[in-house]
Amino acid sequence: MASGSEGGFWLPPQGSTAAGGVDGLFDFIYWLNVFFFVLITGAVVYFVMKYKRKSDDQLATSQVGHNTLMEATWTFVPLILVIVIFAWGFRTYLNLTVAPEGAYQVKVTGQKWSWNFTHPDGTVNTGELHVPANRPVKLLLSSRDVIHSFFVPDFRIKQDAVPGRYTTAWFQAKAAGEHQVFCTEYCGKDHSAMLAKVLVLSEEEFDAGKWKVSKPPEGMSVADWGGDLYNKVGCKACHSVDGSKLVGPSFKGLFGREEKIQGQDPVMVDENYLRESIMDPQAKIVEGFAPAMPSYKGQLDDAKIDAIIEYIKTLK
Ligand code: CUA
Repeated sequence: MASGSEGGFWLPPQGSTAAGGVDGLFDFIYWLNVFFFVLITGAVVYFVMKYKRKSDDQLATSQVGHNTLMEATWTFVPLILVIVIFAWGFRTYLNLTVAPEGAYQVKVTGQKWSWNFTHPDGTVNTGELHVPANRPVKLLLSSRDVIHSFFVPDFRIKQDAVPGRYTTAWFQAKAAGEHQVFCTEYCGKDHSAMLAKVLVLSEEEFDAGKWKVSKPPEGMSVADWGGDLYNKVGCKACHSVDGSKLVGPSFKGLFGREEKIQGQDPVMVDENYLRESIMDPQAKIVEGFAPAMPSYKGQLDDAKIDAIIEYIKTLK
C-alpha cells in the first residue's frame, strides 16, 4: 500500500516530493521519442511509396543536391532538444543529490542480506525505516560486506551502499504510508530477498516515538513476531525452518538438540546458546558449517532476540 499521488501508467505512485520532477522528465523524453518515431517512420513509409519504381523501363531518379535549410533544421532542433534534456536532467539530479540543510539523518547499513537503520538517538531497526512525513530525510549509506544498492521506487531514489565509504541520498515523503525498499545491486544468493519497508508516520506520531519501543505489533504473539523478524532481519537467508541445510544449521528441531561444536564440547541448544550465537556467532561453530555469520550485536535488542528464540522453540 503506497500512498501519494499516481505515478502514471508505467510508474509507481509518487511517494516523495522529488518523484514528480523525475516523472516529468521521463514523460518528456518518452513523448519526444513517440513523436520522432511516428515522424521518421511515417516519412520512410511515405517515401517508399512515392519513389517506388513504377515500371521496368523507368529510369533512375536524378541525384538530389544538398539543402542547407533542411540540414540546418535537423542539426539545430535535436541540438536544442538534447540541451533541454541535459539542463532538466541536471537540475533534477542535483535536487535528488543535495539534501536540504537540517534534514533528519539516518544511517543505512547494508549487509548480506538485510538493511539496518540507525537513527540519530541510537535507535537501530532492521528491515523497517521509520520516518516522518513532510520532513526531509537524509540517508548516509554504507555496507558491511559487498556493494548493495538502496532503491525505493515510490521515492525515485536509488543509491549504492559501498563497504568502506559513505554515500548519501535524501527524500521527503509526502504522506503517511508504507513503501517497499529493494536491493538493486546483485549481492549474492539472497539478493532478491534483501527487502525492507519505509514506514512513513505523521509528524506527531513520529515525534511521539512509540515506534522505537521494541514490542510485537498489535495482536501478534511474541513467537509470531519472532517469525516476522526471522524474515526481516536476514536469518531466513541462511537458516531454513524445514530441516534443509543452507549456509547455517536449520532452525527446525534446533531448540533442545545437542549440537557438535568444532574444537569444543557439544552443547545443548538453549536460550543462552542461541543468544550467544546471535551476538557472537563465531564463539561456537557447529560441525560441518563455516564461520559465515555476521554479529547482530547492536542491531537486535533483548526483546527482539527473545522473540526470535521463542519462534525457534515453536519449530519442532
Ligand atoms: Cu544486497 Cu543485492
